[in-house]
Amino acid sequence: MADLKLTGVAKSYGDVQVLSDIDLDIRSGEFIVFVGPSGCGKSTLLRMIAGLERISGGTLDIDGQRMNDIPPSQRGIAMVFQSYALYPHMTVRDNMAFALKIAGQSKDQIREATDRAGKMLQLTPYLDRLPKALSGGQRQRVAIGRAIVRDPKVYLFDEPLSNLDAALRVATRIEIAQLKASMPDRTMIYVTHDQTEAMTLADRIVVLAGGGIAQVGAPLELYERPVNEFVAQFIGSPAMNLLPGRVTSVGPVTTVELDGGLTAQVAIPTRAGDEGMPVNLGVRPEDMRETDGPALFEGKVDLTEALGEVTLLYFGTGDAEVVPIIAKLPGIHPGLNGRTVRLTADPQALHLFHKGESLLYRDGPEGLPPYSPRVAPSGAPGGAAAPAQDVSEQGGTIKPEGPVR
Ligand SMILES: Nc1ncnc2c1ncn2[C@@H]1O[C@H](COP(=O)(O)OP(=O)(O)O)[C@@H](O)[C@H]1O
Ligand SMILES: [Mg+2]
Repeated sequence: MADLKLTGVAKSYGDVQVLSDIDLDIRSGEFIVFVGPSGCGKSTLLRMIAGLERISGGTLDIDGQRMNDIPPSQRGIAMVFQSYALYPHMTVRDNMAFALKIAGQSKDQIREATDRAGKMLQLTPYLDRLPKALSGGQRQRVAIGRAIVRDPKVYLFDEPLSNLDAALRVATRIEIAQLKASMPDRTMIYVTHDQTEAMTLADRIVVLAGGGIAQVGAPLELYERPVNEFVAQFIGSPAMNLLPGRVTSVGPVTTVELDGGLTAQVAIPTRAGDEGMPVNLGVRPEDMRETDGPALFEGKVDLTEALGEVTLLYFGTGDAEVVPIIAKLPGIHPGLNGRTVRLTADPQALHLFHKGESLLYRDGPEGLPPYSPRVAPSGAPGGAAAPAQDVSEQGGTIKPEGPVR
């Protein structure tokens, strides 16, 4: 069991403030993932939790005990790094046993712990091999094994898969998920800049940006209810499109007139007085679909990328000043290059931002109903991209219950 509580945690190097005001409660048994752009302070935060980096301000508690001045070895934590840092002249077993030998454990205890870790990580046949006779994925498993033998309450991972090639990264990611499932009461904190790892592994994701926490939530909650444009564009690939416009009619469903004259219906409530408010309409590439009816976007396809399962359409690539609009259509669409297409999206799939902040959160997170995922209509491929009956076209009838978020 290990709850972690960070209160007002800050870090500065000399005059340079790297992190400030980090408040975070991590429950025992949770799998927490820190994501954010390179240099935003993910490793620094993890190393402060590990005790490898001094905490400049605020407090870290583990199970109610203040940890700021407790040395790393006494925090009940083990850390796995991106570089496996195995001892090249030691076997797999000896690499895993090293910390236990230092700690003065008996031969029997060490044998049992390394056997158990070997089994959990499917390394049993390799226990007597040297690291050079292992694949990259196996070496990273040995590094994880070194953590497991110590049976820590909290596992910290800093980009453990970054050195692996794409296929191994997927395989090892799944192994880490299974490892966590086999240790439900152990807490894991995992740092990555890879949003697929974050989405697939995390119970909750912590998005770090600009020296602080941008948003904390379940992966799909961040995807469907991003608190601001940064999170909206960081989670999801390709990134969410932002189309500037202004509010023209308010109510449970908001009408937005986009620059250029097209309009969109958005299932996010606005109120009297919001008319004329400048907004960015957020639409994910995968939520866009072709339409003959009213469109929220119309443009000439400058470039297509056919990936088989989906086709990406790029608009506005000719102008280096402009961020291209991207649509992701399920399946194969030959011959769209150079054609003008009209695209729409469900009102429930759209997002609205004012001065970078989502209008969903204007009354604080408390003002929102509890999150539940927007489930794809049964039998419809592509989920969110499939038309919903009454709201299938922009300007069509909107169901009275309003937002389903
Ligand atoms: N020892 C240090 N001295 C000064 N600045 C540092 C030191 N370690 C990290 N930083 C700075 O702190 C910021 C966050 O670094 P880091 O936590 O490694 O980012 P991330 O892991 O998110 O890529 C970076 O701007 C980095 O340059
Ligand atoms: Mg880092």
